[in-house]
Amino acid sequence: MSSRRHAMDPKLDSLQATQGRLILGPELESGHELLDREHRELFALGNAALEALARPDSSRPAVHSALDALVVHLVRHFTDEERVLAQCGYEHLEEHRRAHKALLARAHELEMHAEAGTISITELAEYLAHDVVQMHLVKTDRLFFPSLRAQR
Ligand SMILES: [Fe+2]
Ligand SMILES: [Fe+2]
Repeated sequence: MSSRRHAMDPKLDSLQATQGRLILGPELESGHELLDREHRELFALGNAALEALARPDSSRPAVHSALDALVVHLVRHFTDEERVLAQCGYEHLEEHRRAHKALLARAHELEMHAEAGTISITELAEYLAHDVVQMHLVKTDRLFFPSLRAQR
């Protein structure tokens, strides 16, 4: 089985349903302008990285630079989000910071795999669709939406 196969893991329902693209649903709108804009950009950069890897003429530098842009954005977004959460006195901030740290550690691993030319579309799709979108944005980020709304 090729490591570059485009077949998705069965648990990646959100990706399968959207033919390999991450789609940001309305349930992910927090109402906070900056954070929502950054979440949209995160989806765009995630899709760009998936596309760079899925292209038949995919090249190591193209994949690496798409992943790098994604990681730079993740770092900025997590910093901004933690600042906003600190300002509104979010009670689970420390736990949230730890979740961001773990996501970044995994992103750096993927970057190393991209550099070595061993990254697979399945591993990148699983990270983006499962770790970042389903487990973090949908589950963990949504927990702070009420705290943000209560502030306004
Ligand atoms: Fe977050
Ligand atoms: Fe976020």
